[in-house]
Parts: sequence; structure tokens; C-alpha cells
Amino acid sequence: EKVIQIALLGAGTVGSGVVKVLEMNRRQITERVGAPIQLKTVLVRTLGKARPELASYQVTDKIEDILNDEEIDVVVELMGGIHPAREYMLRAMEAGKSVVTANKDVVAQFGKDMFDMAERQDVDFLFEASVGGGIPIITPLKQCLTANKVTEIMGIVNGTTNYMLTKMTECGSDYNTVLKEAQEKGYAEANPSADVDGLDAARKAAILASLAFNTRVELKDVSVEGITKITPADIDYAKNLGYVIKLLAVGKDSPEHGVDVRVHPVFLPEDHPLASVNGVFNAIFVRGNAIGEAMFYGQGAGSLPTASAVVSDIIDVSRDILHHTFGRVRCTCYEKKKLCPLKE
Ligand code: NAP
Ligand code: HSE
Repeated sequence: EKVIQIALLGAGTVGSGVVKVLEMNRRQITERVGAPIQLKTVLVRTLGKARPELASYQVTDKIEDILNDEEIDVVVELMGGIHPAREYMLRAMEAGKSVVTANKDVVAQFGKDMFDMAERQDVDFLFEASVGGGIPIITPLKQCLTANKVTEIMGIVNGTTNYMLTKMTECGSDYNTVLKEAQEKGYAEANPSADVDGLDAARKAAILASLAFNTRVELKDVSVEGITKITPADIDYAKNLGYVIKLLAVGKDSPEHGVDVRVHPVFLPEDHPLASVNGVFNAIFVRGNAIGEAMFYGQGAGSLPTASAVVSDIIDVSRDILHHTFGRVRCTCYEKKKLCPLKE
């Protein structure tokens, strides 16, 4: 019987969640795939750290131990950042291994290189966890909503800043204290300026808009403003007027203006559906010309919610390996459409 062998690159917040979900749901995962999934090797940066959760697996700090291991079918990249994550993923696909990642930096900037390599090598490249943590949104956009012309995609796509704004609004907490809390809970990026400056949300907005509008939106095409300039006075002012402040990602595709994608703080009326999306929760609203409006809601960051999306991708890839059905759903967002004139 075939056993699907996988390797993890990274065992931090998300990596350790993936180990937990694979162990916790082993039986049902095997049933769903039709074969067992075996975690074989884990790549880390610092070998000396105590990692009791990895006691049953091979732990290494050398990528060659994974890339040269012919038994490994799937490489799951959970290190973050562009370098060396991008090179490792390309090399893994070159070696004939499918790749699963939660890395929005690489998908937003080098998605096309990744899709091209996956196509050339006839392997899978899946990235459900790159946007919205545990919320299914990439697969719906790639598969379930493709009958539509999507004209708008909008939402709260960064858990750290939503957690911070919620605590600052509800408890009057101080900015630095809540940022530290978000970091301790494992929501923030390794460099949290990516969260508070709006870059993480901009990367996600670029990925979502590319898939939704079937075009190629790059990070440089997204106007970005983060939450660093928001003061307690702004929050009080909003509250007194019946509003809340949220960091929104907004993408629109219109015949007059083309594709326009932005990330910025917004005053939302308290009765707006996105105003009650609080804490680490994210929500993404999609408008299509057949479905009308659809909303996706759930935990946008954190160990187990994000692992839920990563492991689902691992299960999909494993099925493709067993049935030789790689690349069932290719990303076609390669060609750049007209952008909003302000951005050209
Ligand atoms: P993290 O806690 O900082 O963990 C990173 C892991 O990668 C650590 O185990 C680290 O090794 C390892 N690593 C980093 N650089 C490495 C290198 N050059 N060589 C080998 N190993 C290396 O990060 P995370 O929060 O799990 O995030 C991982 C990825 O998931 C990122 O792309 C992030 O944007 C994405 N993501 C995170 C969340 C979330 O809620 N945290 C949600 C969705 C997506 P050591 O343990 O030795 O330091
Ligand atoms: N730092 C990210 C966030 C992790 O807070 O949303 C999930 O992508």
C-alpha cells in the first residue's frame, strides 16, 4: 500500500499546528485520502531548540535531506519570507515533489513562477492558507465561483490588526500592548511591521484580486495604508459617531476603471456586517454576477485554524498523487488586465 510521505519546512506556529492536526485526525485523514499520510522530515533553522512535539520525526537543518529524499512526495513550506522559501519550493518542484504553502509573500510576488514550475513538472502547488488563515477562500475563488464575473472582493484579511483594533476599541487597550499580545498568540508575522503597515493585507489582496478577476495583480499595484497612524482619539471619535475603524482590503473590477485594489483603514457604521467581525476573525465578501453576494468568515490566523487549511491542501495533493490527477485546477491569472488609470 502506498504511503504518502511529506516533509515540513518550518515548525513554528503553523508547522506545529500541522503536526498536531495530522496526529489528531490521522484516522479520518487516511480514510479520506485512501492511504496514510506520513510526516517524515522537518526542516528547522535552529537544531538546538527543544521540540518534544517532533520527537517521532527526523529533524534537520539541511534542505538537501529533503530535496534528495526520493521517498518524499510533498514538501510543505511554512517558514515564511521570500528567501530561501521561494528557492526551496522551486527546487522541490524541480525534484518532482508537489508543494503546499501558507506563504503569501511568495505567492503575491512570485506566484506566476510557482504556477509555471508546477505546470512544467506536472505537480501540484497549493496555497489555501496564504489568505484568511482557516477560511476556505482560495479554493472557492479557483473552483466554486469561476462561473461568475466577479466585480468586487472586499474584507478583513489580517488577523493581527483586527485583533489590535478590536482590543483598542472594546477595552481601550494601548497599541504596543495589543501588538505584543497578538505576537504572543502567534498571529503576527515574524516582522510585525508587515501586519501593522498593511503589507500582509496588501499581499493577500493581490492574491485574492488575481484569482477573483482572473488577472495578475502584483503587490506594487495595491495602494496600501496600515494602522500605525490610528490614535485612541480616532477610535473614540468613530465610537461617538456610531462607527468602528477596520483595516479593509478592497478590490473592484469595473468596465470604466479596470481593476483597482487597495488596503486602508475605514470608518464602518456599527451595523455594517464587517463591523462585527472582531478579534482574530477575518471575513471576505465576494460579489459575482450569478451568485450575487457571498461572505466567507472564520479565524484568520493562529496555529490550528491555519493548519486546517494547510492539511486540507496536503489531503488534496495526496489524492492527486494516488490518482495521478495533478493540476486539476490550474491558476489562470497570468495576464495583466487593465488597471485603474490612477495606478498606471
Ligand atoms: P514562525 O512561527 O516564525 O515559524 C517559522 C518556522 O520556520 C520556524 O520553525 C523556523 O525555524 C523555520 N525557519 C525559518 N527560516 C528558516 C530557514 N531559513 N531555514 C529553515 N527553517 C527556517 O512562523 P509561522 O507563524 O508559523 O508562519 C509560517 C508561514 O505561515 C508564514 O509564511 C506566514 O506568513 C504564514 N501564515 C502564518 C499564520 C499564523 O497565524 N501564524 C497564518 C497564515 C499564514 P526555528 O524553529 O528553528 O526558528
Ligand atoms: N500575520 C497574519 C495575520 C497571519 O495576522 O493575519 C495570517 O496570514
